[in-house]
Amino acid sequence: MKPKSVLNGLPVYQPGKPLEEVKRELGLSEVIKLASNENPFGCSPRIWESLQEEAAQTALYPEGSAPELREKLSSHLGVDPEKILFGNGADEVIQMIARAFMEPGVEAVLADRTFPRYQTQIVIEGGEPVEVPLKEGVHDLDAMAQAVTDRTRIVWICNPNNPSGTIITQEQLEAFLAKLPEHVMVVMDEAYFEYVDDPAYPDTLSLLEQDPRLVVLRTFSKIYGLAAFRIGYCVASESIITELNKVREPFNANRIAQRAARAALEDQEFVDHCRKANQAGREQIQKQLEEWGLSSYPSQANFVLVDTGRPADEVFQCLLQKGVIVRSGEALGYPTHLRVTVGDEKQNRRFLEALAVCLDKPLKEQRG
Ligand SMILES: Cc1ncc(COP(=O)(O)O)c(C=O)c1O
Repeated sequence: MKPKSVLNGLPVYQPGKPLEEVKRELGLSEVIKLASNENPFGCSPRIWESLQEEAAQTALYPEGSAPELREKLSSHLGVDPEKILFGNGADEVIQMIARAFMEPGVEAVLADRTFPRYQTQIVIEGGEPVEVPLKEGVHDLDAMAQAVTDRTRIVWICNPNNPSGTIITQEQLEAFLAKLPEHVMVVMDEAYFEYVDDPAYPDTLSLLEQDPRLVVLRTFSKIYGLAAFRIGYCVASESIITELNKVREPFNANRIAQRAARAALEDQEFVDHCRKANQAGREQIQKQLEEWGLSSYPSQANFVLVDTGRPADEVFQCLLQKGVIVRSGEALGYPTHLRVTVGDEKQNRRFLEALAVCLDKPLKEQRG
């Protein structure tokens, strides 16, 4: 069998280590997973009732374009429902964008380092990724604008950026868009936007009203805590949505996910609670790292990328032995860093206690 030639050398995506696997392999009963930027508070309890209602419909295909969820989300966001398209996670929306807009002979500009699925999907479609190094963990928009050519179809901006957690501001984005040629689409991946508290963060949905080049990507996997159901979406001009619908699988957003997302949207109190708890947890972690003199990027997301000053895989293994799963920076292009998801207060404390032992750092008893 001969696969597509572009698959040569393409790695298989390595997700964070699953909780169950670590328990099994290490014989540990108490394991916490702070590796995949999941929500430590689960999801809104309101979704359970709605799933009961949906249970009677399991033999029926879902409505592919998710009209009820689209209607609800459109009033929540204040955008036209015709500008929304759902995917089996934001991951699938990334795939659809690449499928519809990339082809051999065209380029896409993205950061080095950023969320790896952009690059993978560009390559699968035969396009050419043009990577522009981050500047102190932040998208270097000037250099990205310079990297744009006549062949550029898409610029990908992950905001907050995974794995650095940094953001670009409204002012920076506007200046960037002003320099960009008409033919270039700008995908703003805002998977973590609900966690942001910096007022300088861009209001992309308003910008989108005047600038049809923008595509705003979001998900129910993070603050809404629905990662298991797989549902994400993008907001874009109707003409872009029309093209994406041509490559969309007929029933890509499943029935249960649509129903859960509708219920989750109704519980904005839960979202507020998670946002506030995440801010406090992020501070809890960053303050301790600072006390230890370890540098981390100023994160606006639900994770922190910290430089341990030691080989990342070693620190990762040490934490694993103590039942704490984080993400080693080795595979993320940061060989001495760890990316840790902000957990609840107890999980953060447990992470810091384990890290103190692994790095031989002092920890005050009553912390947290
Ligand atoms: C920046 C970014 N975009 C998209 C995704 C994909 O999210 P989903 O679970 O909706 O596929 C993730 C998941 O971690 C992410 O970090």
